[in-house]
Amino acid sequence: MIFSLATFRRFNPFSRPSLRLLPAPAIAGTRAYTHSHGVAAKPLQHHEGPAHVYPFFEPVTETLQYVVVDPISKEGVVIDPVLDYNPASGEVTTQTADGILAFIKENGFKIRRILETHAHADHLTASQFYKKYLPGEPLVCIGERIKQVQKHFAPIYGFSDADMANNFDVLFKDGEKFKFGDVTCEVMHLPGHTPDHLGYLIGKRIFTGDSVFMPDVGSARADFPGGNAKDLYASISRLLSLPDDFELFVGHDYPPPHRGHQYAATVASHRKENKHGREGISEEEFIKLREARDRTLAAPRLLHPSLQVNIRAGKLPPADADGRVRMKIPVRVPASME
Ligand SMILES: [Fe+2]
Repeated sequence: MIFSLATFRRFNPFSRPSLRLLPAPAIAGTRAYTHSHGVAAKPLQHHEGPAHVYPFFEPVTETLQYVVVDPISKEGVVIDPVLDYNPASGEVTTQTADGILAFIKENGFKIRRILETHAHADHLTASQFYKKYLPGEPLVCIGERIKQVQKHFAPIYGFSDADMANNFDVLFKDGEKFKFGDVTCEVMHLPGHTPDHLGYLIGKRIFTGDSVFMPDVGSARADFPGGNAKDLYASISRLLSLPDDFELFVGHDYPPPHRGHQYAATVASHRKENKHGREGISEEEFIKLREARDRTLAAPRLLHPSLQVNIRAGKLPPADADGRVRMKIPVRVPASME
């Protein structure tokens, strides 16, 4: 089973109670939530279960962001929130975050943590914005191997060790658990795309970030520093060894031309159909096809702005002496120009 907005329109809401739509006028539906600035956010769907899941799609970077809440206590988490950034003008805006913030506030959700699956290289995280504007200063969390990513990238952007210290509130290890309300989340270390990469297992749902993508897309690239296809194969194998009915909620979707954006599929679907990781594909085959594909991929459009913000937990670069904030783009020069 693959979940998309179109799927759900065809879906019998009473055949799978854990996935049915809430009847109106229940606590939170799929209407648009309008912020006082006039910005709207609309969850793609409302998945029920021990924790309720609200996916939000950000179209510019094709990112899936998730609000996950315990329906009783209304405590919850936000996973992989996006900060809007225009690299041509340098303008940072908060339309996406404003809308989700309005959704959270109107529903009375108490967000306890902002969960990063990894240091993204394709979009800026809005974690500091949520931390600032949500009550109780939710904790900004990431995997402990962010230290490796920071060590690699800090000198590239001219950051000191002090710039790297104490940016994240929580550094998770594999297997750690925490609760929001009565809901337990277990952290899974899923390296390969990046070394710090985590999945968050909540009930039968795993928020997989950029490890697997939808079955017809396959997997994420594994050519970033500290990433590698062998680790990614092991991480995907770990995910696909979960029970058939567990659902993988992806961090992005880059759909082929014949379909719209989707965001979740069962382990059974992936085992049968995942383009890169389905049952029967050996480690050797996976590495070969992943590395061949990665050789064709260009650097992400927001690579440098994303990393210099995301390795500092979403903090914008420190202002220069004149008070202005600038992004740094390291330049690579051919030997003939040195
Ligand atoms: Fe990523």
